[in-house]
Amino acid sequence: MRKSIIDLHAMHARGEKIAMLTCYDSSFAHVLEKAGVEVLLVGDSLGMVVQGHDSPLPVSIADVAYHTACVARGSRSVFILADMPFGSSQITPQETFRNATELMRAGAQMVKIEGGKEMVPTVEFLVSRGIPVCAHVGLTPQSVHQVGGFKVQGRDNAAAERIIEAAKALEAGGASMLLMEAIPRALADRLCDAIAIPTIGIGASPRCSGQVLVIYDMLGLGAYIPPRFVRPFIKETGSIEEAVTLYVTEVKAGRFPGPEHCYNS
Ligand code: KIV
Repeated sequence: MRKSIIDLHAMHARGEKIAMLTCYDSSFAHVLEKAGVEVLLVGDSLGMVVQGHDSPLPVSIADVAYHTACVARGSRSVFILADMPFGSSQITPQETFRNATELMRAGAQMVKIEGGKEMVPTVEFLVSRGIPVCAHVGLTPQSVHQVGGFKVQGRDNAAAERIIEAAKALEAGGASMLLMEAIPRALADRLCDAIAIPTIGIGASPRCSGQVLVIYDMLGLGAYIPPRFVRPFIKETGSIEEAVTLYVTEVKAGRFPGPEHCYNS
């Protein structure tokens, strides 16, 4: 029986940390599930770590659906979250709904949508028609060319306020989880206080209800210099299984991320 959104909300209510990792195939799904990861994110990071592009922009809805089906076949009990890739959600709510159905048919239990307040009508449309949504704020890699690189967001007051207002509006629109990426720790802490839904951090704060990393990054496999928030768990262990088990242990104990993985400003 797969974990459900109810289970994730119950963990959040109990103060039990949620361990999430990206996953793109059936073999890794099996290993990650066995190691105790609760949520597998079929992220559009697959464009970089699997397909070899320099951004997630080339990834299509068919690509994410394909990898979601692979992950679903390799797992039994984890919750599966799938990314709406670039161009699949920055359109009408109706068209976004049609795209999201491809991911749900492939085995996703929730879709993740990047963006701020402008995405609220889309979130409302999907949620009211049975598709749970995780909102993604802060650094939104699909906007890499708009923001001029993979850079920390929300550093000045105006930008921080915009992110907080967006998070509140997305929650009010029905989002059932919020992922925050590459923002100062103080802003991440304010976000955790501002909303009631589970929060997932990556380059954010240990205060978040859970954490996520790109699996290839924590295994030291990325063909790029890893960002500050990556802890190379594989270097502290001897195998993929041990690295993932240590990640789960450290997230659950609130020891990851440490101060060295967070942005002070
Ligand atoms: O695509 C991805 O891997 C993500 C990250 C935030 C983990 O969205």
